[in-house]
Amino acid sequence: MILLKSPREIEKMRSASGIVAEILAVLRESVRPGVTTFELDEIAEREAARRKARPAFKGYSGYPYSLCCSPNSQVVHGMPTRKELVEGDIVSLDFGVVYHGFYGDAAITVPVGTVSEQARRLIRVTEESLDLAIAAAVPGGRLSDISHAVQKHVEANGYSVVRDFVGHGIGKRLHESPQVPNFGEPGCGVRLRPGLVLAIEPMINEKGCQVKVLDDGWTAVTCDGGLSAHCEHTVAITDNGPDILSRL
Ligand code: MF3
Ligand code: CO
Repeated sequence: MILLKSPREIEKMRSASGIVAEILAVLRESVRPGVTTFELDEIAEREAARRKARPAFKGYSGYPYSLCCSPNSQVVHGMPTRKELVEGDIVSLDFGVVYHGFYGDAAITVPVGTVSEQARRLIRVTEESLDLAIAAAVPGGRLSDISHAVQKHVEANGYSVVRDFVGHGIGKRLHESPQVPNFGEPGCGVRLRPGLVLAIEPMINEKGCQVKVLDDGWTAVTCDGGLSAHCEHTVAITDNGPDILSRL
């Protein structure tokens, strides 16, 4: 069942998603060689508390942290550690909050100091694929138009789309219907309508699309050791087109 949100509810979701955007901006500025992902998790917690928002991931299916930090060949759901990030790494930071009963969810991939041209290009193509996906989130379209927009751009640039994880509807729950894959033929799936709010989140690999989950039960990594990037926005479909709720 797909729950459409009223304009009032969308404004509440903008508050939650705006807090996520602010905190990701703080985290982006905090990423540098020598910082640990554990410290980034502490910053995220502190910034959420200051805004009276509850971190959405902590305790979700037993996930023990507030932030997901996935460096280099980690795809998503990487757990914060005491290991320092080093110059040349890239790290995806995925964060969500609940605020006044509604969820917001967003992710960015950030370079640590100066990174290779290769890594920069992967991040850029991943961000572009999210922009194209959002541009396809218009009333009258179909869900898989969003999916296809990601796949087309990513594969045209020689990268691959992760299949094992998908975006999702979002609202009073972190994960609502429908699922939002990052691949597929256009013109399929549910009709896009005003009031539909989606967390669109391309996960893009430099090499093959195969991923596996480590023994910790969370950390997803590329099977071939290639780099992976991830970015995400919470987006409302409105009469005026896509409205990016998790934008600053
Ligand atoms: N953005 C991710 C998602 O939508 C983060 C979830 S991490 C979890 O699933 F711990 F909450 F599962
Ligand atoms: Co999400």
